[in-house]
Amino acid sequence: MNKKVFVTRLLPPDVMNALGKICDYDANTEERFLTRDELLDVVKNYEAVACMLDDKINAEIINAANPNLKIFANFAVGFNNIDVNAAKSRNIFVTNTPDVLTDATADLGIALLFSAARRITEGDKCVREKKFDWGHQKLWAFDITGKTLGIIGSGRIGANFGRKLALGFGMKVLYHGHHNSTELDNVGGKFVGLDELLKNSDFISLHVPLTPETRHLIAAREFAMMKKTAILINTARGPVVDENALIYALKNHEIAAAGLDVYDNEPNINPEFLTLDNVVLMPHVGSLTPETRNAMGMMVVKNIEAALKGETPPNAVN
Ligand code: DGY
Repeated sequence: MNKKVFVTRLLPPDVMNALGKICDYDANTEERFLTRDELLDVVKNYEAVACMLDDKINAEIINAANPNLKIFANFAVGFNNIDVNAAKSRNIFVTNTPDVLTDATADLGIALLFSAARRITEGDKCVREKKFDWGHQKLWAFDITGKTLGIIGSGRIGANFGRKLALGFGMKVLYHGHHNSTELDNVGGKFVGLDELLKNSDFISLHVPLTPETRHLIAAREFAMMKKTAILINTARGPVVDENALIYALKNHEIAAAGLDVYDNEPNINPEFLTLDNVVLMPHVGSLTPETRNAMGMMVVKNIEAALKGETPPNAVN
């Protein structure tokens, strides 16, 4: 029990209890993320760090680490907040929390798709403002059942999202990614080129990690190719989309609507989004259910436990 672990933001209580059973830890108990200086201080003093997407673990932070720092255990499946190569060059493991959040994140994508297509947030506002009117066409919406769904990113979450919508709502699936997906092929999914997907889909949903190749994958050229009735869903990472191009497309009705859980410069939101009715906005909550967050936290604990024992953690990504 003499190993020292730092938790940059409190994890669910059961997870903190489980962590306490395997090591001594300190934690940031405030409702805020650590500053750069605080992170520098943490890496100089601890052997393991449980961290969050908002912690920017860049080369500067990693190079300041003490020689005994063994692991950055990220509380997320994505790890674009960590310079994985810099960590590898210092022999520090980076781990993530795959699989356990696949359903929750895919389900939020489905919720955004339905909200944007059926204009749920606008309808809710009408009711609250006592503008209830069955016949009016202000809330003219979009059919979902039987429509064409374009999935960009054929990994776990994209495939889960597509399978559920194909089986539940008879959607025809087009998909594009690094590899074929048996899960999508089994529900009639067709692997196509990006441009073909953009031109033919009624709904386009993003499920790629953020890498130099996927940054601004969807920009002005891509919006111009989409149907004017297309709806874009992004539960992946904000910078996969050129936000200025998205705002232009939404304002000028190049596409019909969007449902977003992620943004370019989180936690800051481009204020232009707040002026638009045809976008549904969620604050990056894809995995935010108690079951999912507990399961993610338990993976963080297992990864830290292994690293402290000198073993390769189960979810090492480097
Ligand atoms: C993750 O864990 O990377 C996702 O962004 C969850 O929403």
